[in-house]
Amino acid sequence: MQPIDLLNSAGDRELVEEAIATRKHAYCPYSQFSVGAAIRCESGGVYKGCNIENASLGLTICAERVALFTALASGERSFVTLALVTERHVISPCGACRQVLTEFAPDLRVVTAIVSGPAYSLRLTELLPFPFALEPRR
Ligand code: THU
Repeated sequence: MQPIDLLNSAGDRELVEEAIATRKHAYCPYSQFSVGAAIRCESGGVYKGCNIENASLGLTICAERVALFTALASGERSFVTLALVTERHVISPCGACRQVLTEFAPDLRVVTAIVSGPAYSLRLTELLPFPFALEPRR
């Protein structure tokens, strides 16, 4: 996990700002833990997501998957960078999100940041080096 200076990268800074903006829409009455995500596509398009909880707890969906699914539903299929923002501490995508992101974006770069705090960059392959796949890995 590489610390990065958002002041040196306009692209990452913009993506983190989009994630911060959408984090405000998080629906998290059970955990009180709001997460914002923004994914940049190869087309240049940026799609946002926040976590949306449910009283069943198990039906909660993470910010990362909301961002990815919103992009997919708009016809996007190629992804470059995902930004993830929280307030309390740096997080990394949960196991379920890692598997889902790998399906569509195995080479994804992940930027995880704290609002007004440090940011880090890492690869999805570092987070999930041996994902489940129906076909053998080449
Ligand atoms: N959450 C995310 O949105 N992304 C993650 O990577 C981990 C967890 C959400 C789910 C739940 O609403 C809250 O954070 C606490 O687990």
